[in-house]
Amino acid sequence: MNQKLKRIRQILVVLVLLASIGGLSSCEKYSFAPPAVDKNATWHFQTDIQPIFTANCVTCHDNSRTPTLLDGKSYLSLKKGGFISLPAESSKLYLKMTSSDHSPRSTDTEKLKVLYWITQGALNN
Ligand code: HEC
Repeated sequence: MNQKLKRIRQILVVLVLLASIGGLSSCEKYSFAPPAVDKNATWHFQTDIQPIFTANCVTCHDNSRTPTLLDGKSYLSLKKGGFISLPAESSKLYLKMTSSDHSPRSTDTEKLKVLYWITQGALNN
């Protein structure tokens, strides 16, 4: 009888340990979730959009490829080349950023920022 109780206690300890490990790892998942992109916030070209290009695009889109996405030249290049238009979902820039054949891909958060920036009029703000 005593043996049986010990065994049950062991099983309970293991179950509690497993539950707490599960709890910890699910907390981690939440803390790594990307922050939601606020559609109604004002999105700025200089501080929100250009850094996306600088980090992900300029290795290829330098002066030799249209659109050039280099800081200081990108806005004009995108405008002149007709890459930004409304509705934002069908602009060449957004379509290219969301097409699977165009690598490396930007994150979903970055795509949304570009989408909202175009929707808000694609200002050089
Ligand atoms: C590894 C190189 C490479 C990277 C990095 C890259 N591109 Fe491109 N991009 C290309 C090439 C090559 C083309 C032309 C062929 C094509 O349309 O896929 C192109 C085409 C485009 C076009 C369409 C041009 C047209 O005439 O229709 C857009 C817009 C564009 N890229 C945007 C971006 C953006 C925004 C990023 C960063 C998020 C990016 N690219 C990153 C290589 C790259």
